[in-house]
Amino acid sequence: MYTIGHILKEIREESGYPLQEVQQQVDIDLTQLSKIENGKRLPTTEQLLKLAKFYNYDEKSLIIQKESDKIAYSFEYPEIAVETLQVAEAKVMYGKQYLPMFQNAIYRKPISLESRRYIGSKAKLTDWIMDLIDSETKNVNTFADIFAGTASVSNQAILRYNKVIINDILHSNNIIYKGFFEAGKWNESKLNNIITRYNTLNPDNLEENYFSKNFGGKFYEHNIAKTIGYIRQDIEDRKSKLTEKEYSILLATLIYNIDKIANTVGHFDAYIKKPIKPQPLHLRLINAQDFDNVEIYREDANKLAKKLKSDLVYIDPPYNSRQYCSAYHLLENLVLWKKPELKGVAMKPAIIDGKSEYCTNDATTTFENLVNNLNTHYIVLSYNNMANKGNCRSNAKIKDEDIHRILSKKGELKVFSRPYKAFSTGKSNIENNEERIFLCKIKI
Ligand SMILES: C[S@@+](CC[C@H](N)C(=O)[O-])C[C@H]1O[C@@H](n2cnc3c(N)ncnc32)[C@H](O)[C@@H]1O
Repeated sequence: MYTIGHILKEIREESGYPLQEVQQQVDIDLTQLSKIENGKRLPTTEQLLKLAKFYNYDEKSLIIQKESDKIAYSFEYPEIAVETLQVAEAKVMYGKQYLPMFQNAIYRKPISLESRRYIGSKAKLTDWIMDLIDSETKNVNTFADIFAGTASVSNQAILRYNKVIINDILHSNNIIYKGFFEAGKWNESKLNNIITRYNTLNPDNLEENYFSKNFGGKFYEHNIAKTIGYIRQDIEDRKSKLTEKEYSILLATLIYNIDKIANTVGHFDAYIKKPIKPQPLHLRLINAQDFDNVEIYREDANKLAKKLKSDLVYIDPPYNSRQYCSAYHLLENLVLWKKPELKGVAMKPAIIDGKSEYCTNDATTTFENLVNNLNTHYIVLSYNNMANKGNCRSNAKIKDEDIHRILSKKGELKVFSRPYKAFSTGKSNIENNEERIFLCKIKI
């Protein structure tokens, strides 16, 4: 091993001093000095400081060498020394915050599809929705979720129907569906090795990057932002050595893990304006699966409707003027990784792809066109009763009477409802919110 002794000997020899002269100048016993240089004993801090001064050498770097010798000599199990050092580094860096990191590492449970913050997610309503559909429909083989969002409904449908079609206009949702559901090959231990490397990155050794420059200190603590940017670039750089499924799993994994620690209330229209606590980014892989009965699209639902053939179509469009592509611009940007120039407080690109007609005053006409183009036996629509209860932005874009008019023309319509707390950023105080299902059995 290359010790502090070797270093001191080299410094002395390079400076051209015989051992005796150093002994006289710094007043350290000759035998001791010789033992130090031969690595037979460590210098005391006092001796080290005297030597640093005499050689005109940086004190801190010599102390670091001595401390690291002490650590290196203390290993009872040298075969796991490097791993032990990585853990020690994380403990020093994160202090108290290290515990959750450790727990995650021990319980390497993959992240489930439902554990995501997303406006309008039906993750807590899927039992109600699926049981209702089960009891009200017959002979459904193909299920299409054409505004799939988090895909929490599709995730349940996959277990019940022969074929499931999953669609959403966002790039970030599309990569998540590919990661969680798409058929393809992946090597779990290869991905775990990549993740382990990401989890031991020291942000102090990383350079500033697109992500840290734009989002650091805003949506993420600066060091975390640096790490996220580095990981995103690394996934891109190693793309040629990954299968398509592995690439999707890594990106979906990044999205899920950074969602948990974002300095937001659940979307990226704004960030919380308080100092951000540093916390570790400890990645866990998503619970990737491989289904051959799933078709994945990233299309405007109205365009897809013209070529879609499905026994049942589940429609869960945006209810209000809040554009999803804008609310999740940071994730879209991360997935596309074209690094556009960003502006404004929320650091959005000037042009955002994926604007939805359902968030505009044309929502009713757009919905009517969609319904008229569908080739299906059942239409199941989720639409809440926000009407004009919230602030202007949260008000529903399609009126109840229009939903009744449009769907009743197509067949027999039943409406089901249950109380449900709406997503709110705290600006509006909405009471008696209901989640509703409009189930239409199409006339033949
Ligand atoms: C209310 S959310 C769906 C929530 C979903 N059911 C869940 O459980 O997470 C509406 C979704 O529709 C998508 N969307 C909006 N307009 C669309 C369009 N024209 N075509 C396809 N998807 C659209 C949005 O990106 C958003 O993910």
